[in-house]
Amino acid sequence: MLKIKNLLSADDLKKEDLLEIINLAEDIIKSPDNFSNLCNGKILGTLFFEPSTRTRLSFEAAMNRLGGKVIGFSDANVSSSQKGESLKDTINTVSQYADIIAMRHPHEGAAILASESADCPIINAGDGGHQHPTQTLTDILTIHLYKKRFTNMTIGICGDLKYGRTVHSLLKVMSLFDGNNYVLISPDELRLPDYVKKQVLDTHNMKYVEVQNLDEQIQNLDILYMTRIQKERFFSMSKYTRLKDSYILDNEKLSNAKEDLAILHPLPRVNEISVEVDNDPRALYFKQVKCGMYVRMALILKLLEANND
Ligand code: CP
Repeated sequence: MLKIKNLLSADDLKKEDLLEIINLAEDIIKSPDNFSNLCNGKILGTLFFEPSTRTRLSFEAAMNRLGGKVIGFSDANVSSSQKGESLKDTINTVSQYADIIAMRHPHEGAAILASESADCPIINAGDGGHQHPTQTLTDILTIHLYKKRFTNMTIGICGDLKYGRTVHSLLKVMSLFDGNNYVLISPDELRLPDYVKKQVLDTHNMKYVEVQNLDEQIQNLDILYMTRIQKERFFSMSKYTRLKDSYILDNEKLSNAKEDLAILHPLPRVNEISVEVDNDPRALYFKQVKCGMYVRMALILKLLEANND
């Protein structure tokens, strides 16, 4: 049984809990029918104060596939937060209706705040530029399914490493596994924040280099994790415009890559992966999307079990 009662941050995921969720997700993939009514009578609340396609819909698909029901909103403008209701009161209210809540909010730490007033487990589905732990579960499951290991790899992470919350969460969870090399590829202005380097990479003695050029590194990589330049986090649109096409992965660049490279992307993409790459067998990002649904099914089951204790 999980030791955690909520999933608020990748910091919450200890190795044992992580592997328990991943193992269950792999069991669900093998025999989904065995899980199709385990959430009968249960309700998931999806409270999305920020836009989402994959995270919200994969949570909803996950609960539906478990036999449960879903309530919620996908736009803060249709909630009473528009009338001035505090997040605390919104969460307190919805947790009277729902058995478990997945929430996305623009403010860093919002999920932690919500967990303090909720009567049910809270799942952080993204809080500002901070973290996105269920995307990390998705990434980890995809890595395990397609690379069959978590160690002894050279992992390139490319794009917006400053604002990309999925990157911060992924590095935190990968710190549980030794023996990998990390190649952090970004424009100078979008380098990984110092606090992540210090608290995650340095604390766990993770080997890394910071570079700006993808072409010079691509042949060394076992995994290439591409990310979008996070337009919504920029204060200056001229800066965004200058940086937005810093990296565009195309077939020509991939001609130098390993045959078993795994190309991941949390999506949505804008220009950073050319659509011609979608037909390359190394492009796993739409398979990754499906992994997201299965791992959220596993997470819902595990958190409900842990809170039933
Ligand atoms: N990966 C991800 O979080 O996608 P959405 O923003 O569409 O949920």
